[in-house]
Amino acid sequence: MTDRYSVIGNPIAHSKSPLIHAEFARQTGQDISYTAILATRESFVSAVRDFIGQGGKGMNVTVPFKEQAWKYLATDIAPRAATARAVNTLIFKDGKIIGDNTDGAGLLRDIEGNLGFPVAGRRVLLMGAGGAACGVLPALLSRNPAALTIVNRNIDKARELQERFTASGNPSVTDYPGLSGSQFDLVINATSSSMNDVLPPLPKAIFTAGALAYDLMYGKGLTPFLKFAQSQGAAKLADGLGMLVEQAAESFLIWRGVRPDTRPVIAMLRGKE
Ligand code: ATR
Repeated sequence: MTDRYSVIGNPIAHSKSPLIHAEFARQTGQDISYTAILATRESFVSAVRDFIGQGGKGMNVTVPFKEQAWKYLATDIAPRAATARAVNTLIFKDGKIIGDNTDGAGLLRDIEGNLGFPVAGRRVLLMGAGGAACGVLPALLSRNPAALTIVNRNIDKARELQERFTASGNPSVTDYPGLSGSQFDLVINATSSSMNDVLPPLPKAIFTAGALAYDLMYGKGLTPFLKFAQSQGAAKLADGLGMLVEQAAESFLIWRGVRPDTRPVIAMLRGKE
C-alpha cells in the first residue's frame, strides 16, 4: 500500500513540495504519494480531517495555516512547534494528530550545512516580527549567536516577540532608524517585503565584511533586499530555496525515518528557475 501525504495551503498550485517529496521518495526507495490540497480558513480543519479519513499518514502545512494548525488541530505538539507557535508538519498516528515544526531546523541546515556559515558567535539581524520571523527565531537563538536583534517597522510587535524569548537568548529589538551605526554578520529577511518587491528601510553599512544576507523568499531571483545587500558589500547572498528543501527533508525524516540527500534536489530546482 502506498502511504499518502500532502501539503495544504492557499495558494498551493505552484507549491514545489510535491516535486521535492517525489524526488526524496525516488531517491530513498520509499513508496509514498504526495499531493497538494487547496483550502480556505473555513475549510482547513475539515480538509485535514478528510485527508486523515482517507488514510493519510501526514501533511505539510503552509501559508496561511501554520498558526491555525498549532492552535486548533494538533492534539500533541512537539516542543519546537510550541515555541514557534506554528505547525508545518502533521503526523497522523494511533488516532492522534501530532504537530511539529521543521522550519527552524531547515533554515539552520541551509545556513550552516549548505552555506557553511555557523551561527554561533555571529551578530544576527532578524527582519520582521510576523509568523515567518517567529518560526525561525527559536532555532537561531538555540545556536548562541553573539547578539540577535529583531527589527520591525511596528516595534510593538517586535517587543511582543522579544518578551517571549527573554529567557532563551534575550534578543534585542529596534525599529529601522535605530539600526544606524550597527553591523551584522548574518541578516535574515523574514518580512513579507520581497513578495511585494519592496526594500525594507534598512540603513546603509549594516553588513560586516564576510556577511551573509538571507531572504526567506525564493523563486524571485535577486529580491530588492538581496540586491541592496549585494550593493552594500555582503559577501554571500541566499534565497529561501535551500530552506524550503531542508524543511521538507526534516519532515520526510520524521515520517519515513530516513534522511534524503537534499543537494541534488536543490540543484534540480535551481536548474528549473
Ligand atoms: P508572515 O507570516 O509572512 O511573517 P505577517 O505575519 O503578516 O506575515 O508579517 C509580515 C512581516 O513583514 C511584519 O513583520 C511586517 O512588518 P510590520 O509589522 O511593521 O508591518 C513586515 N513587512 C512587510 N512589508 C514590509 C516592508 N516593506 N518593510 C519592512 N517590513 C515589512
